[in-house]
Amino acid sequence: MGFATDAIHVGQEPDPATGAIIVPIYQTSTYVQEELGKHKGYDYARAGNPTRTALERNLARLEGGSHALTFASGMAAINAVMTLLQSGDHVICSHAVYGGVYRLFTQVLARFGLEASFVDTSCAATVEAAVKKNTRLLYVETPTNPTMALSDLKEMKRITSAHKLMLVVDNTFMSPYLQRPLEFGADMVVHSTTKFLNGHSDSIGGAVILTRQEDYDRLYFIQKSAGAILNPFDCWLVLRGVKTLAVRMQQHDKNGQAIAEFLEKHPKVQQVFYPGLRAHPQYELAKKQMKGFGAMLSFELGSLDAAKRMLKHVKLCSLAESLGGVETLISHPVTMTHASVPPEERAKNGITDGMVRISAGIEDVEDLIADLDRALQHV
Ligand SMILES: Cc1ncc(COP(=O)(O)O)c(C=O)c1O
Repeated sequence: MGFATDAIHVGQEPDPATGAIIVPIYQTSTYVQEELGKHKGYDYARAGNPTRTALERNLARLEGGSHALTFASGMAAINAVMTLLQSGDHVICSHAVYGGVYRLFTQVLARFGLEASFVDTSCAATVEAAVKKNTRLLYVETPTNPTMALSDLKEMKRITSAHKLMLVVDNTFMSPYLQRPLEFGADMVVHSTTKFLNGHSDSIGGAVILTRQEDYDRLYFIQKSAGAILNPFDCWLVLRGVKTLAVRMQQHDKNGQAIAEFLEKHPKVQQVFYPGLRAHPQYELAKKQMKGFGAMLSFELGSLDAAKRMLKHVKLCSLAESLGGVETLISHPVTMTHASVPPEERAKNGITDGMVRISAGIEDVEDLIADLDRALQHV
């Protein structure tokens, strides 16, 4: 079946008890057993819930994996993956990742002896040079947040195969509609379902999609033991959101491209970071490994003052953290999403005071462009 068909149907057979076409929200903590040890596949809701099962089956199919696990947030999903490792292990991580991932590695996992190196994963030679004896995992965000640099997934897989590392890709920015890292050989894909998968800015959640039974068993054990599960109502919200993922992503993609092209020509804008522009240094790679260029873009206004002025005057675009909702969000990475990254690290990664990030929504693009144009007049 095609992607849109799968998004609407997989994991969502009519409810066996009532015929309800929509998977019910199984708001229960436990399940009554017929007799000792005899139940219907569910015994306690931390260990399993039918609404969660439906979502996990659906996400596994969309990413082309065999299994999925859903968590209370994207960060909970990423944290669960990292707890597959142990003290003394080393992780190589894209240097311009979401600030929360940097914070998790440097301020939480470091205390448990997990070592991380932040490197430019858009350069395969740099990644290879960072491999040490104790390296176990390569964690890649592509495109990176907010500089929109791509990592070549084929090259990343070549390196992880050669050094027997696990390849984990954060696919939040693209969604499986536009990019499917498991097809390039990634071992696991992580998502903040908070973003495009749910798509309506009304839920926080995370997911891991994987391909091997033994990885699933180990991660399921962590999910059950540590307990950061996604609750039934949020599972239901994400299931509903995913039904329209294909049509939403088509429109996000169109709007992202149109806004990037508008900004590229605007005299107040010094540079635009969007993989769908020919000027993007990895435009050819983007065409090869993605089905579209997506909704995420950043641009440079030259100074904090310029960024502040613009952000003060947008009306339709909402000044807010997050991304991936139907409404256009605009943000300032240095003071918002990447505030937890030290200034010297940000500078190294090209995250400047004058940088503004947009998550293009699915509104009429002329209205978005008019809003941005008006706000830019104040720069
Ligand atoms: C690319 C990316 N990955 C992971 C996360 C973390 O997800 P959550 O906020 O759902 O914990 C975010 C949050 O913004 C993100 O942008």
